[in-house]
Amino acid sequence: KKIVLSYSGGLDTSIILKWLQQQYQAEIITFTADLGQGEELEPARKKAEMMGVKQIYIDDLREEFVRDFVFPMFRANALYEGTYLLGTSIARPLIAKRLVEIAHETGADAIAHGATGKGNDQVRFELTVAALDPKLEVIAPWRIWDFKSRTDLIDFAEKNQIPVAKDKRGEAPFSVDANLLHSSSEGKVLENPAEEPPPYVFMRTVAPEDAPDKATYVEIGFEKGDPVSIDGKALSPAELLTALNELGRDNGIGRLDLVENRFVGMKSRGVYETPGGTILLAAHRAMESLTLDREAAHLKDSIMPRYAELIYYGFWFAPERLMLQALIDKSQEHVEGTVRLKLYKGNVIVVGRSSPKSLYSDALVTFEDDRGAYDQKDAAGFIRLNALRLRTLAARDRLAKD
Ligand code: ARG
Ligand code: SIN
Repeated sequence: KKIVLSYSGGLDTSIILKWLQQQYQAEIITFTADLGQGEELEPARKKAEMMGVKQIYIDDLREEFVRDFVFPMFRANALYEGTYLLGTSIARPLIAKRLVEIAHETGADAIAHGATGKGNDQVRFELTVAALDPKLEVIAPWRIWDFKSRTDLIDFAEKNQIPVAKDKRGEAPFSVDANLLHSSSEGKVLENPAEEPPPYVFMRTVAPEDAPDKATYVEIGFEKGDPVSIDGKALSPAELLTALNELGRDNGIGRLDLVENRFVGMKSRGVYETPGGTILLAAHRAMESLTLDREAAHLKDSIMPRYAELIYYGFWFAPERLMLQALIDKSQEHVEGTVRLKLYKGNVIVVGRSSPKSLYSDALVTFEDDRGAYDQKDAAGFIRLNALRLRTLAARDRLAKD
């Protein structure tokens, strides 16, 4: 048996690697993705080698992640439950897609992941595998093994010569998932939603109160709804998001503390940092405000919560997501130009926007003489007809009262 394991090199997935080798007498192939989590990946190779793994995949997926997953999602201004920018949700389908590809390249029969049986991530991984190759078996050790506690896991690690860092011997402080779009922290010290997160939870933004007292200005250029430049300099998708992350980090932008509804039914408390994404969302909306037709804008806004929910639930490779994506992409044809923003102590403030495709007309909107661009008399009939129903209803209700 051959199993491709999604492997971070951390303690939990190292335990999973050893456990799989023992349980299934299987050959394990490890896959470690560079999604911009900002961690050294060579230690993961060393560890996998030490545990006898012969095929080790370490892939830099940063450009693909931002170009084919993050940017398409931002075209929709997607937010789950009004606030969450979906940083973990959007990465899972890419990792799972690559796991399937590696299974095909190596002739493996199964893929394994380290998501628990309580969360969203297991669903996202497995729905993606089902959509791309339903013949592949999925092994989720967290749902199978008999370990009952952190102590059981540590005992197993120590028995099997898996190095355990000193600070991991006790309770892990909280669970972290990070990539170029965001960092998320959940669990342990964060489990009481009434309590403010301790400062050490935050790992990629300065506190707003410690950010510079002087505002930073930045100009983002857009083409077909995607950001393509910063301050006039063309950048690749991953370079651009990296640059926005730096600006956001320094200005204390993109912190979020929320209670969300997981797909499996429970509520969980999470702390997120999405510095570049928070700037990008504000800029993209400003670009659309100038270039989208009103009804086109309102229609795409009305499907946004549904689209965000699909991504959160893990249906990236489902027909309904592709249908909505086609609609969203069509809306972005003329979303181009530049947006100027002011970043200041946790705030993203739009201060200017311009576009060769602008629908904004000062001739129409001016309070001064519009030289016949708009006839104010037309508004009287417009209001009369829109009021027709309301007058009729009001007349009936008045009669009913008498
Ligand atoms: N709750 C977030 C989500 O479902 C983040 C999950 C974080 N994953 C993790 N392995 N800590 O998208
Ligand atoms: C996990 O349970 O593995 C992480 C949290 C989640 O997937 O929601």
